[in-house]
Amino acid sequence: MELTDAEVEALGSHGYFLRDAFLGEPRALAVRAAVLARVSAGALRPAGIRRGTDHSVDTSVRGDHIEWVLPGADAELEALWNHFHALGEAVSSSAYLGLGRFDVQLACYPGGGAHYARHRDAFPGQSNRRLTAIWYANAGWTPTDGGLLRLYPEDTGAPLDVAPMLDRLVVFLSERLEHEVLPSHVQRLALTAWFYGRGP
Ligand code: OGA
Ligand code: MN
Repeated sequence: MELTDAEVEALGSHGYFLRDAFLGEPRALAVRAAVLARVSAGALRPAGIRRGTDHSVDTSVRGDHIEWVLPGADAELEALWNHFHALGEAVSSSAYLGLGRFDVQLACYPGGGAHYARHRDAFPGQSNRRLTAIWYANAGWTPTDGGLLRLYPEDTGAPLDVAPMLDRLVVFLSERLEHEVLPSHVQRLALTAWFYGRGP
C-alpha cells in the first residue's frame, strides 16, 4: 500500500486525510457481515470514558458499544487488520511518523441519538498514540441516519463533517485533531486502529 501525494500533503498540513474504497466493495461487505455477526453474538460492551479504576460508562459523553479485535479472531476482520497494518507501514515510510504497534476496536452506536462528545484520542506526553484510522461499515448510509464524524482541523476555523459510509477510511493525527460523533439515529458501525509510536 502507498499513500498518494495528496494524502501525505493533507496529513502534514491539515492533520488528516480521507480515502474511499479502502478495501473494495466485495471485501467491505464481507467485513461488514463479520462485524454484524459480532454484534448479534452479543460480543460488544458499553464503552467507558476513562481507564483503569476511574473507568465509568456515561452515555451523555459516549454512547457506543465496543470490542477489541485481535488478529486471528475472524478471517474477514483479519483482512481488515492486515490492511491497517499496511496503512501504518505506508504512513511511517511516506509521512515519517515512525509508527509501531496498533490496537483495533470495533464500535457500534446502537442508534437512538447515541453520540461521542468532542475529544482528542491522545494528549502529548500522556499516551503514545500517534495516528487514528477509522474504517466505516455502514452500507446504504443516508443523511437522515446521522452519525457524522465532525473533525476540527487546527488550521481552519471550519469543522468538517465526514459521512460514515461503507469502506471509507479517515486517518488523522491522534494528538492534533479534536473530533466528535454526532447523534446517530440508526445503528452505526466502525473499526478504529490506533497506532503507537516506536519506543517508550
Ligand atoms: C473514537 C472516535 C469516531 C468515529 O472511538 O475515539 O472518535 O467516527 N470515533 O467512530
Ligand atoms: Mn476519538
